Amino acid sequence: MIPNQWYAVLESKEVQKGKLIGVTRLGEKLVFWRNKNGEIICLRDKCAHRGAALSAGKICGEGETVQCPFHGLEYDRTGKCKIIPANGRITPVSERFKVDSYPIREAHDFIWLWWGKKRDEYPPLPFFEDIDEKFSFKTYKEVWPVHYSRAIENQLDGVHLPFVHHNTIGRGNRTIIHGPYVEMSEDKNEMKFFVDMQKDDGKTRSLKPEAFPMDKIGNFYIHFKFPNLWQNHLTDKVRIFISFVPIDEESTLFYMRFYQKIVRIPLFRTLVNWLGIASSKVILHQDRKVVITQDPKKTWLKMGEKLFQGDLPIVKYRQRRQELIEAEE
Ligand code: FES
Ligand SMILES: [Fe+2]
Repeated sequence: MIPNQWYAVLESKEVQKGKLIGVTRLGEKLVFWRNKNGEIICLRDKCAHRGAALSAGKICGEGETVQCPFHGLEYDRTGKCKIIPANGRITPVSERFKVDSYPIREAHDFIWLWWGKKRDEYPPLPFFEDIDEKFSFKTYKEVWPVHYSRAIENQLDGVHLPFVHHNTIGRGNRTIIHGPYVEMSEDKNEMKFFVDMQKDDGKTRSLKPEAFPMDKIGNFYIHFKFPNLWQNHLTDKVRIFISFVPIDEESTLFYMRFYQKIVRIPLFRTLVNWLGIASSKVILHQDRKVVITQDPKKTWLKMGEKLFQGDLPIVKYRQRRQELIEAEE
């Protein structure tokens, strides 16, 4: 997992006032709740005393503290223990009684967690700027038993379309893939790529990325933003979006959203978004069947897989991911 990044870890509606929610994200057990102003607080879900899950406890102090269910230790938003009931409320609590707290933001109907070292100033959230408030969306949530690297790379792979999706989005047996033409942003944290596919007539070789036909660089492309956000930019007004949330080294949570701003009338909008998700789910499950079989479970640069030209976006992903991980070590 790439440290020192913002990760969308929950949807806003999953954390409701008055309720503790315990989840595993980025390999850590976390507890979330909202204080009385609706702000989100997130702590490590493990009491410093004898390891009980704080998420099984209760919210106290007008939403500012959480009480462990076992012996009643109370922690504030910074993770500092304020009270050890057995010692008496007036007894000061040693600094040793502390759990980790996490910087949190809420935006785009997601709750974002900073996974890394705390600092004075944080970079902006890595959302797609071209998905504005005019879009409406529906979300679908699903867990895959795979490392997030495999889940992401599957969505950077055009070559699998005529095989995995031969009866859906990959119809037409267009097995030759030209390019892909990859555009990296200046900071290298964003990548867009374009593909052009055709049937194999027995006389055609795939065109090199440098020879990619410029008239195919248009409005339809795949867009990825580090560490884990992806959108299929179908048109200016229709997108399929996925946040690949690492639960741990062996499982990944997909928040898949269908975004569109063509239909705005409330009831129709709901119907269209529902249909968008229903069809995206069919495609997703075609992918799932194959991706869960990949060996080894996770990927890294120079892992020895034999790649070819069509895998270029995957290579770029692996390179940048490695750079980001090494830069933080
Ligand atoms: S384990 Fe939490 S108070 Fe004892
Ligand atoms: Fe696919």
